[in-house]
Amino acid sequence: MERLTDKPAARGVLERYRDRLPVTDDTPMLSLGEGGTPLVSSRRLIERVGCKDLYFKLEMCNPTSSFKDRGMVVAVAKALEAGARAVLCASTGNTSASAAAYAARSGLDAFVLVPHGRVARGKLAQAVAHGARILSVRGNFDDALAIARRISEKHPIALVNSVNPHRIEGQKTAAFEIVDDLGDAPDLLFIPVGNAGNITAYWRGFVEYFQAERAGQKPRMIGWQAAGAAPIVRGEPVADPQTVATAIRIGNPASWELAVAARDESGGEINAVTDEEILDAYHLLAEEEGIFCEPASAACVAGLLKTAAEHPESLRDQTIVCVITGHGLKDPETALAIETDAPEVDADLAAVESAMGLA
Ligand code: F0G
Repeated sequence: MERLTDKPAARGVLERYRDRLPVTDDTPMLSLGEGGTPLVSSRRLIERVGCKDLYFKLEMCNPTSSFKDRGMVVAVAKALEAGARAVLCASTGNTSASAAAYAARSGLDAFVLVPHGRVARGKLAQAVAHGARILSVRGNFDDALAIARRISEKHPIALVNSVNPHRIEGQKTAAFEIVDDLGDAPDLLFIPVGNAGNITAYWRGFVEYFQAERAGQKPRMIGWQAAGAAPIVRGEPVADPQTVATAIRIGNPASWELAVAARDESGGEINAVTDEEILDAYHLLAEEEGIFCEPASAACVAGLLKTAAEHPESLRDQTIVCVITGHGLKDPETALAIETDAPEVDADLAAVESAMGLA
């Protein structure tokens, strides 16, 4: 039960957007304060990009530090409404963290299937902390999702992957917020693509706001996959996807057709960036903008920098939003993989001054 005192601080997605979501009188108003994330302008990268305006939608500022919370709160609330006792997902990490948190808050059991050895440590830590039942599947995300789908067909357990339509509904609210903050839709939306639910959700949100005349235009959707896990770009499933961006290490996206529709209806594109380009963008964002995201999130910024290098004219005069989907702290291994120069010093003023070059 929500107490009244939970409400003023952060109303959450269900309450704020109830008119545009599948909310009924029986839907519990579950919330961890998701949504309402910052849209911050670029201070330094914009000079490299050469566009009119550049913003970052900081979806890493959601309660479990990724965009998944917007959709998960709707999926778990609807599962509760339907009388479910347990939820289930396959995940590269963030969906499981989010499902675990909202299930914990609701008193539901959460089962999560993760690809063995391929989930960033911070995400596993979240699922462990929230008491999820974690199964480390010897296979990749696509294998785990196929099994999760079968289980939810055979047993009364709610599947909360983005094949659950409530997830997409919740996630579209991020597009509403961008329009509300900018006063209109941007010209271009740069977004990482993995299982392809989020690009689908943003497109739906932009289309809805356009139809409701809350926006005067719709953006072109520019999606980015990792080169080693780029089935949509290649036009065929990838049997053994590989990338440093483990969140988007997916070879056969569930929302493939919807993502292609979003791309084509918007006049957009879905392209690929290499791991090297992803890591370059990851470091640049942290070092030049103060934004520490996980590698998958940096894929769209890598794509923007690549576009700026190859087709600078296509970006001039454009207002661009990059969706920063998840927090860098989720993947400490990648952050610490760069050579860190942290010399040990004695706890002594003169020694520290000398090490700082102040002596
Ligand atoms: N960025 C991050 C940080 C993600 O965790 C994901 C997907 C994506 C981008 C891609 O979004 O799948 O909607 O195209 N993570 C899923 C998970 C697959 O299990 O957490 P998408």
